Amino acid sequence: MNLTLKVWRQANADVKGKIETYQIEGISPDMSFLEMMDMLNEDLMSKGIDPVAFDHDCREGICGMCSMFINGEAHGPDRLVTTCQLHMRKFNDGDTITIEPFRAKAFPVIKDLTVDRSSFDRVQQAGGFVSVNTSGNTQDANAIPIDKHDADKAFDAATCIGCGACVATCKNASAMLFVSAKVSQYALLPQGKVEAIDRVLNMVKQMDEEGFGNCTNTGACEVECPKGISLENIARMNREYLFASLKG
Ligand code: SF4
Ligand code: FES
Repeated sequence: MNLTLKVWRQANADVKGKIETYQIEGISPDMSFLEMMDMLNEDLMSKGIDPVAFDHDCREGICGMCSMFINGEAHGPDRLVTTCQLHMRKFNDGDTITIEPFRAKAFPVIKDLTVDRSSFDRVQQAGGFVSVNTSGNTQDANAIPIDKHDADKAFDAATCIGCGACVATCKNASAMLFVSAKVSQYALLPQGKVEAIDRVLNMVKQMDEEGFGNCTNTGACEVECPKGISLENIARMNREYLFASLKG
């Protein structure tokens, strides 16, 4: 496949960026999108041009690093996959592909397609954990019976990889799907109930402080989420928040 790539280039957060156009040839339909980006960078470096900076780590849909906006969609045109799992067979020979970073006030561009998502880390640090009593009398987690339905829903919420596609897709740059997944994975389990009130209040407070927008129930986040995180989690977080506000 021969392709035209329109790629966002920005040297750092303090300068303006712009789209640069590159031609790339000999792309196999079996390559992943990131392998295609690797080929682009090898070609750029052979010509003495600065390679395109982009985030990646696991390349198997687990780490959530490969944040790219491809032809106007977070993680590209496929459903329930990350950019690293997207294959070039989803495109046609001769296509023009536009590649941009995830855009949101709370995700400032570091360089080219790399954005700073440490705002997600700070939201997580505000309450996305359970404190474990290490007195020696800690109950074995496997000895606590949990309703299968709740366990399944908690596991589904826990599959959120913190990629930020929900924020990049939302017209308000809301982080509600991400935060609600993190709140839900604990809210559904007995281990999470102990700190439930502080957790939801602190995580929502941090989310607001980071500059994420409000949720207006558009639902685009759920459509673009590579892990299929359900809007049901946002409804659960709103209930948790209301209960915590009344109790707290
Ligand atoms: S909710 Fe989905 S889109 Fe948002 S951070 Fe988690 S995995 Fe990514
Ligand atoms: S590189 Fe880890 S999810 Fe894509």
